Amino acid sequence: MHTIIEPFRIKMTEPIHLISKEERINALANAHYNVFLLDADDCCIDLLTDSGTGAMSTQQWAALMLGDESYAGSRSWKKFEKAVRQITGMKHIFPTHQGRAAESLMAHILVKEGDIIPNNSHFDTTRANIEFRGGIALNLLSEKGMDLTANVPFKGDMDVDKLQQTIEEYSVERIPFCMITVTNNTGGGQPVSMANIRAVKHVLQKHGIPLIIDSCRFAENAYFVKQEEEGYAEKSLLEIAQEMFSYADAATMSAKKDGLANIGGFFVCQNDKWAEQFRNMLILREGFPTYGGLAGRDLEVLAVGFMEALDYDYQVYRHATISYMGRFLEQKGIPYVKPVGGHAVFLDAREFLPHIPPLHYPGIGLVNTLYIEGGIRSVELGSVMFGHFDANGDEQPSPLELVRLAFPRRVYTQSHFDYMLEVIEKVWQERDKIHGYRITYQPEFLRHFSCYFEEL
Ligand code: F0G
Repeated sequence: MHTIIEPFRIKMTEPIHLISKEERINALANAHYNVFLLDADDCCIDLLTDSGTGAMSTQQWAALMLGDESYAGSRSWKKFEKAVRQITGMKHIFPTHQGRAAESLMAHILVKEGDIIPNNSHFDTTRANIEFRGGIALNLLSEKGMDLTANVPFKGDMDVDKLQQTIEEYSVERIPFCMITVTNNTGGGQPVSMANIRAVKHVLQKHGIPLIIDSCRFAENAYFVKQEEEGYAEKSLLEIAQEMFSYADAATMSAKKDGLANIGGFFVCQNDKWAEQFRNMLILREGFPTYGGLAGRDLEVLAVGFMEALDYDYQVYRHATISYMGRFLEQKGIPYVKPVGGHAVFLDAREFLPHIPPLHYPGIGLVNTLYIEGGIRSVELGSVMFGHFDANGDEQPSPLELVRLAFPRRVYTQSHFDYMLEVIEKVWQERDKIHGYRITYQPEFLRHFSCYFEEL
């Protein structure tokens, strides 16, 4: 078989700034050793996130010029609505400026103090929006999903028995809805099988509990279903996505992922009462329901982007780049979460740097060394992001110390990947020299974004 090539040519380029190692050492020191505080221009390969960082196609750029900026009922809105309805089959469709706006309004209308919201794994903003309303966000990930090294498919699946037990334990009254996140970002970008979504729906239906899908990476999930789940090989990604949404009562979306756009999101639902309440909040907080905080041109771009994300050749190429990295890590014995996810590779910093104790933040040690060595910006998902303080004020580490390399869509080519692999291998060979960090300043909430570190 031939090499799977990028299914596009490059028509417009954006220069990458190549600064020297010495300049990177200074830049990191000036950023208090927190890569969130670096200038993007100082990062030659930016893998901080796959959110809003993708490249648009010629079709999307052309669509952008067609943007109808009418306040109400614009042509661009009609196109957006048509595309989202075709994919989700939902009765009510609302654009939002990004995923968390949809989550915030959803939580506002549906969550009250003491409510329990199960999910395979809540993304941070989903959890935060639920907790902000006094709800309790429960993760019910399957056993296989918690095993970092089990190389099995669909590690994003929810534990259906635990869901059943949760309903019995807390009662239906306390569970206004259940969520499922495709793909499971915080659990390694692992997909959820259609069989699992069906099984979850089956349990929920018995109790009359609605299902809401956090669908940011719905097209990547559909790709895994087609490749790995029995009975789906002959179906198109669109048909698979349609089936998935058919089990849902509503969905939230950050279109900065599988909308292949730089901004955008939506909330969709079947229920008229939810729609009425959502519409009222949308007008109050985001904008009129036919633009929801977006420009007409964004709606145009998204209508095209959702469909391009469902293009099979595009997904084949996307997954090929990510599994290329996985194969290399496997060969070199470099520890990572197996199998590779749909949008990212997660390095296991605890195994990578066993000499650094969790509260000296091995993930930060690895993130910072990848930056110094090759200008690669990644992100820690470990004790800095998920650690907490107990009742005595003692800091408790996170059970996992991961470093996420998230891949922007259609941005980096195979030679960029080869460069990343060279840098990772060099860092692996010299891992004994990597040291831990101490926090010298931290804000009250979401400390990872803005805290300062000092080298140990
Ligand atoms: N849900 C999931 C599963 C996400 O991954 C994200 C964003 C959101 C919701 C929120 O969407 O950013 O548009 O408000 N994830 C990004 C990331 C930020 O880097 O993983 P948003």
